[in-house]
Amino acid sequence: MSNRAEGFGSGKVILAGEHAVVHGRPALAIGLDLGVTAIAEPAEATTLHVPVWDLELTLADAEGDGDKAQLAQAFRVALSQAKLDLPVRVTADVRLPSGAGLGCSAALGVAVFDALERHKGEPTSRTSLGERTLAWEEVFHGNPSGIDNMTAATGGLLYFVRGEAPEISKPGRALPLVIAHSGERSSTKEVVASVARQLERSPARVNELFDGITSVVRNMKLAAEQGDLKAIGQLMDMNQAMLSALMLSTEALETLCREARNAGAFGAKLTGAGAGGCMIALARNEAHAREVQQALEPHASKTWVALAGG
Ligand code: MEV
Repeated sequence: MSNRAEGFGSGKVILAGEHAVVHGRPALAIGLDLGVTAIAEPAEATTLHVPVWDLELTLADAEGDGDKAQLAQAFRVALSQAKLDLPVRVTADVRLPSGAGLGCSAALGVAVFDALERHKGEPTSRTSLGERTLAWEEVFHGNPSGIDNMTAATGGLLYFVRGEAPEISKPGRALPLVIAHSGERSSTKEVVASVARQLERSPARVNELFDGITSVVRNMKLAAEQGDLKAIGQLMDMNQAMLSALMLSTEALETLCREARNAGAFGAKLTGAGAGGCMIALARNEAHAREVQQALEPHASKTWVALAGG
């Protein structure tokens, strides 16, 4: 058994297809360099530390309620899969905002699973790591499609359909993305449940929107493979209109999309669960991404530029 082992899970943005993917439609996601690193090392007692959240927990915390209890329950899932004989201390360096649509919980889960497996001396393939982390995501999100944990494990450009092996590739050209946080936090579990209620109440309307989203995803996959940034941007705008029709956008997200387009972005949309969280915009190149970022700064709580899939 190695003494000290490091694991990594990447953050992600969903380029198109969020929510529809929960209901069996395809989605397109891309991994970010930004993510979570976890270190697993021998200890006197089993604990999980997340210094940036000022959090330290043991398995006894799984019995309570709230965020800390949920994280302890997820940690218990990871430990039971790793089947370690001795206590372990896991320390996670989280470089992503939570509740923002960037896949923070999945990146943390993948990093913890990865560190535990390496600590045991049994690292697995990245896709198997992604599959295993679904159980972690289920603790937080109730009915996750699996796209966040798979992207957090494999990185790259993923064409993902629930329950199927993902198609992983690289875009024809790296995507100069600007990510802007609306400052509003949202709960993926609640937002996913709100879309499920709409589907139950108005199946024809919601399935029609899902059909539209499916075409957007398929066309965007081709555009991404060809490196056609303009087409990707147009498809992002179309997806945003459909997400708004599902009542997933907010005034703050709409402002960010508008400002990004006014600054010359090819397209802009919310990403992830929506109802808050982040917006992504596609710029012409990295220098232009910095200009779009500047235009967004007065309207966002935080902004990033990411050259995704390079
Ligand atoms: C969250 O990043 C993406 C959703 O589609 C939920 C999921 O796929 O599990 C909203």
